[in-house]
Amino acid sequence: MKLLVCVITPKKIDQVKKVLWEAGVRGVTISDGSGYGYQKVQVEAVKGADYKVQYQPRTRLEIALPDDEIEKVVELLLETVRTGRVGDGKFFIMPLEDAIRVRTGERGENAL
Ligand SMILES: Nc1ncnc2c1ncn2[C@@H]1O[C@H](COP(=O)(O)OP(=O)(O)OP(=O)(O)O)[C@@H](O)[C@H]1O
Ligand SMILES: [Mg+2]
Repeated sequence: MKLLVCVITPKKIDQVKKVLWEAGVRGVTISDGSGYGYQKVQVEAVKGADYKVQYQPRTRLEIALPDDEIEKVVELLLETVRTGRVGDGKFFIMPLEDAIRVRTGERGENAL
């Protein structure tokens, strides 16, 4: 299993929810966040300590997926959120050791 974490712009979230549901993804966690990416690092390097860091609003998705579904979901989400402009976001993919459905005690892919 893999844990897919996507940091995206909030304006894409409705479209993303629709795409995930239509792709058969039946579990996702969505939270509001904030952050900065590469461009902020560049600006700070030029302006030094006086620069006030500005954090952009971001939406964070967490999706646990079986290994054989991860690439399909990543491709769909890339197509959905990519505009080609800076700030489109970032995806992180991590190995996921286990999952537990609390109600039943099911483990692994059966718990997803
Ligand atoms: N290395 C990172 N680790 C954790 N979160 C990150 C990292 N890079 C970006 N993020 C998160 O992703 C959000 C969007 O990043 P962003 O798309 O601007 O990345 P970028 O590397 O600057 O790429 P681009 O040049 O396309 O803008 C950031 O606001 C931050 O919340
Ligand atoms: Mg950026």
